[in-house]
Parts: sequence; structure tokens; C-alpha cells
Amino acid sequence: MSNTREIATEVLTNIYSKFEFFENAVLLNKNYCRLSGRDKAFVRYLVLNTLRRNGQVDKVINDFVKIPIKKKNFYILNLLRLSICQILFLNIKEYSIVNTAVEISKKYKFDKFVNGLLREICRNKNKIFQNLEPNTNIPSWIKNDIIKNLGKETLKKISEGIVYEPNLNIKIKVSCVKEKNWEKVLNGKFIFADVLKTHNDGLIEKKPFFSEGDWWIQNVSSTLPVRLISKIFQNVDKSKVSVLDVGAAPGGKTFQLIEENFNVKSLEISQRRIRRLKQNLQRLKFDANIICQDFFNYKCSDLFDCILIDAPCSASGLIQKKPEILIRDKEENIKELIHKQQRMLEKSKELLKIGGYLVYCVCSIHSSEGSNQADIFLRKNKNFKIIEFNNIANNFGKYLNKGMLLITPGGFGINAEADGFFISIFKRIK
Ligand SMILES: C[S@@+](CC[C@H](N)C(=O)[O-])C[C@H]1O[C@@H](n2cnc3c(N)ncnc32)[C@H](O)[C@@H]1O
Repeated sequence: MSNTREIATEVLTNIYSKFEFFENAVLLNKNYCRLSGRDKAFVRYLVLNTLRRNGQVDKVINDFVKIPIKKKNFYILNLLRLSICQILFLNIKEYSIVNTAVEISKKYKFDKFVNGLLREICRNKNKIFQNLEPNTNIPSWIKNDIIKNLGKETLKKISEGIVYEPNLNIKIKVSCVKEKNWEKVLNGKFIFADVLKTHNDGLIEKKPFFSEGDWWIQNVSSTLPVRLISKIFQNVDKSKVSVLDVGAAPGGKTFQLIEENFNVKSLEISQRRIRRLKQNLQRLKFDANIICQDFFNYKCSDLFDCILIDAPCSASGLIQKKPEILIRDKEENIKELIHKQQRMLEKSKELLKIGGYLVYCVCSIHSSEGSNQADIFLRKNKNFKIIEFNNIANNFGKYLNKGMLLITPGGFGINAEADGFFISIFKRIK
């Protein structure tokens, strides 16, 4: 029978070799699916922490392993990654880490090598720590962009923050906020009047009042676009304000728009993601107008008062929550995404009223997907102007330019462990 560390090694190997998302990699692993809740949590803890520490761990391997480990022994390399992460960064007894790793590697006839290497690392722990910069965990395509646009201090802050497990943010339905003592019920702390942070134990569906539909999972940063839209239309009857939510699934922003009483259409290309959106709507007892279509083919005779584009992106803002992004080479992939984001912005123009608002956001901190896109759009479209909105998100992120808000992972001004996020808003003036 496989033990938890063996299963963690299988999962990590899958993530490294197939660039699988963590959540997919665990679901695809039959041994993982058979584990108890407690053991599943341990596997998650080991794998996610090893990914968060990927650069530091690989540096130790490079420093201590003189002959590179061959490709065919990839499993052993990942067993070492997991074991080194535990020895250096997790509060686990060294003898248990080393003994288990040696036992697992016997099958592959690598036990002597693994034993010698891990014991040497245990002996040299203090020396190793002197030369182990957390920014090595961030890949250069993100790191160089942060240094160029936000500076080395910000890079330091981000790299030191993302090695910790992020909290879970829960968005309570506005209509339910006053009903209960939510901090007590969900064992958390409010960071906004309707967003609470709590520990992520991986057991979301078991939390109180989940099945009753009183709340959903949404990071505080990603609640900002709809808060801003609400602010813009605060003095009008929102039920008469038409909003097109583009790329709507799994639904966080649609839910907020519904509870704010906007006249919302939720457009999404993916059938699979629409199924999730519908499940969520049913649980939350919300009703939505869903359109399953490619945005680029979408036509509508009535123009919208507001279009919200939550564009597909590299997700570089989610590196703390989804640390597998740290080991992906996104440089090539990002070009396609940038092109798509530009096309989405351009497509929106034909669907927006004069005087209407175009809200563009991405869960990325990369300038090519955020501020550059906003700059290009404004340069090309003189009939749009950018809107300043520092009143609502005050002290929450960094204003790159008037009206462009960037939240880096961990946030700036508030202790929220926010996801990285970019927002800008344009108004069509003619
Ligand atoms: C960042 S996610 C949106 C998250 C969502 N707004 C929320 O708050 O839960 C981007 C979404 O855009 C969708 N998408 C990508 N290309 C699209 C297109 N051409 N037309 C419509 N939706 C698209 C993706 O399937 C994905 O669900």
C-alpha cells in the first residue's frame, strides 16, 4: 500500500512532468482519492509547500548532487524535492523524513544515494540557510517584470510572502451578513464588511452554511471590480443598469452583480465551467441570465451600460494559492493570452453605450496583461478615458497610473493575503 509521502511524490511528479494543475493532479491520482481527509491534507501540505519552495529546493539539489539525476529517475528527483522541503522548511522530524524517503527509494535501488544525500543536508542545514534567497522560487518571466515595474523591494516582499499558505477568503451574501456571528461560525476574521478570511483546511463543502448557500469562495481582490461598478452606479436604479459579465464562470462576479441588483447577462465560452456556474447558482439560490457563447461571436441589439471583462490570463497573481504556476514556463503561452485580452477589449467597444463603462481585470501581476493592455487600449481608442477610483480601494493596492490598480500577492496596505490582481476602468465618451 502506498503511503502519503509516496503519493505526494507521484502527484509532484505529475505536476512537474505534465504541467498539470495541482487540483487536477490530485484528482487524477487514485491512491490520493482513497486517502482519509487527514492524509489528503498532509499530501496537499507537502506538495504545495514543495512547489512554493521550488527554486530554493532545486538550488540545494544543484549544490549537493554532483552528477545530475537522469530524466528516467524523475520520481527520485521529486522524492528528494519533497524530502528537502520538509527538512528545511516544515516542522517534521528529520529521522521520519529520511527513513521514509529511504524506504520508498529502495524499490528504485536508490536508497543509499537518498540516505547519504538527505543526511548530508540535515548536517549542513545552518550553512544552507545562509544562502537561500526566497526570490529564487519565482520564475524569471515574473521576477524580471516585477523588478522592472515595481522594484526590488516589492519583489522581496512578494517572495517572502508567497512561501506561506494563504488564507481562504469567504464572501458572505450581503443579505446574510447580519444574520450570524460569522467570525465565530467560520472561525475567521472580517477583512471587508462581507469578506472574511479563515484557515484553508481543504474541506470547504463541510464548512457551516455552505450547503444553505449563505456564502461562496472569492478572494477579496477579485471582489473589487464589482464594488467599483456599484460605486459608479450608486445613485441610479441598478435594476435598470445592464451589465455584461464576460468570462463569467465559475461565477464570483456574477453573484456579486446579482446581489447588487444589476440587470446582468453572464457570458461564458466553456460548457464545463457553465455547469459549475449553474451548480453554484443553485446552491446560492440566485437566478442568472447565462449565455454560453464565444464572446467574439456574440451579438446583441441593445448596447450595455457596463461590460466587465475578467479575461483569461497567466494567473501570475495566484502564485501563492496555486504555486504550480511558479514552475510553468509561461513565456510563450502568455503571448497568446495577451493577444486574446486585446481582442476582448476591442470587441467590447461594439457592445458598449456612449457613456458606458468598460471594466478590465486579470488575476495577473504581469504588466503585459495589465497596465500595458490598458495603455494600448487608451492609445488606440481616443473615445475612451480612464476612470480614477482610489476612493474605494484606498490603501489596498498600488496605483500604477491614474485609475490602474495593481494588487500584488499578499496585498499592500491590508493584512489580507490577497491574490494578485489588476483592474482598470474606461468610460466611452463618444
Ligand atoms: C478568469 S476566468 C473568469 C472568472 C469569473 N469571472 C469569476 O469571477 O468567477 C476567465 C473566463 O473566461 C472564459 N473565456 C475565455 N475565452 C472566452 C471567450 N472567447 N468567450 C467567453 N468566455 C471566455 C474562460 O472559460 C474563463 O471561465
